[in-house]
Amino acid sequence: MFKKIKKVFIASDHAGYPLKQLIIKEFLSKKSINFQDLGANSEKSVDYPKFAKKLCKKINVTSMGILICGTGIGVSISANRHKHIRASLCHNVNSAKMTRKHNDSNVICLQGRPFVKKKIFAMLNAYFDTEFEEGRHKRRVEQL
Ligand code: RB5
Repeated sequence: MFKKIKKVFIASDHAGYPLKQLIIKEFLSKKSINFQDLGANSEKSVDYPKFAKKLCKKINVTSMGILICGTGIGVSISANRHKHIRASLCHNVNSAKMTRKHNDSNVICLQGRPFVKKKIFAMLNAYFDTEFEEGRHKRRVEQL
C-alpha cells in the first residue's frame, strides 16, 4: 500500500456480501489496512447503485475503494459516473496491476458470484502495491 493512501473504503450489494466479508477478514484486517465497511450488511437483496454512490462520495486523493456486486459490472458502471472516480472491473492480476500503472485507478470492482479466493487476494495485492506510472499516462488520465 502506497504512503499517500490512508484509508480503503469497501462496499457491496447482497451478491457481493460474502466476498466483501472475506476481504475484510482475510485481507484488510490481516494486513492492518485502515478501512471502513459501507455495507451491505447481509445477503438480503439491495440495490447496488446506492452502495456504489455511498462509497464514491467518500473517495479522495488519500483513499481508495473496493466495490463488489454479482458481476462487478453494475458497481463499475455506477462508480464511473462520478467525475473523480476511475473504477476498474478486474478479473485477473494483470488487469489489476495495469489499471493502477496506466489509469491511476482509485476503485477496484470485483465479481462476487462466483469468485476464486486465491485469485482475488493476488489481484488485491497487485492493485494496492502498484503505483501510477505518471508520464504519458498522466496526460491521458487528465483527458478522461
Ligand atoms: C444482483 O442480482 C446483480 O444484478 C448485481 O449484483 C450485479 O451483478 C449487477 O450488475
